[in-house]
Amino acid sequence: MLAAGFPSVARTVLPSTLQADAICKAFQRGKVPAVEQASLTVGSGEFVSLVGPSGCGKSTLFNIVAGLIRPDEGRVTLGDQDVTGQTGHVGYMLQRDLLLPWRTVLNNVVLGLDVRGTSRQTSYPQARTLLGRFGLLQHEGQYPATLSGGMRQRCAMIRTILYGSPILLLDEPLSALDAQTRLLMQEWILEVWSSLGSSVFYITHDLEEALFLSDRVYIMSARPGRILEEVRVELPRPRTSDVRISPEFVALKARIMDVVRAQAQIALAAETDEPGGVA
Ligand SMILES: Nc1ncnc2c1ncn2[C@@H]1O[C@H](COP(=O)(O)OP(=O)(O)O)[C@@H](O)[C@H]1O
Ligand SMILES: [Mg+2]
Repeated sequence: MLAAGFPSVARTVLPSTLQADAICKAFQRGKVPAVEQASLTVGSGEFVSLVGPSGCGKSTLFNIVAGLIRPDEGRVTLGDQDVTGQTGHVGYMLQRDLLLPWRTVLNNVVLGLDVRGTSRQTSYPQARTLLGRFGLLQHEGQYPATLSGGMRQRCAMIRTILYGSPILLLDEPLSALDAQTRLLMQEWILEVWSSLGSSVFYITHDLEEALFLSDRVYIMSARPGRILEEVRVELPRPRTSDVRISPEFVALKARIMDVVRAQAQIALAAETDEPGGVA
């Protein structure tokens, strides 16, 4: 089921393969690095997730891939182009929504298109279609301060999608939502992804969410963040919620959970050894 009336984002070119190669980043000299020798790939049209304990360097790696932080070592490439430290090649949704308080919901959502010079005559109908699907249309005239956390997050996500980049980086986009809404939104994200043909690189704490959405899942170690394991999720698509109770899904979840739990224990022990040092 594809999104009826979903704004058509012209896709004349397929997204190129995005690659991070041996990325290292330390924020302070002499301290444990945030990211160490992390390499990963997001292929054209792939849905790839990154999971790992809190504070292990996931958002840092995202910022590096998006070009917002320059790595100490390693490089980021898009196809055969070196884009290390450069912005503009991905649509990015931060963990915090960063809506502009002086803009209404509608005007926040079209912000990226405004910057590009797209007319409101074109951007408003596209924005309203998406706002309708997220149940935000009746709030289009409100300001961010009057919205719930979940609404703000959905608003930020619509803004990212509407920007139309063929590669989307989404950092825990559903974390502010309640459990039921999350499940519905996961299905919605898959619909959007398949209708856009975009590549998605996705951070989540929720292992089930990662498995349900992804073609591949990278597991990051406790700080310093390294890529410990890559799990291929070969569940058929299109996926519906029933897949969560299939034996293949349950087995994959158990396997990933073991690895992530062990890393979370390491992270917790480090925090105890070094009060305030990890968070
Ligand atoms: N700008 C920064 N300056 C100093 N330390 C930072 C900065 N950003 C992140 N860190 C530290 O780097 C580590 C990884 O953070 P982050 O990438 O946000 O982890 P995650 O997203 O996996 O929870 C944490 O210990 C965090 O405190
Ligand atoms: Mg984070």
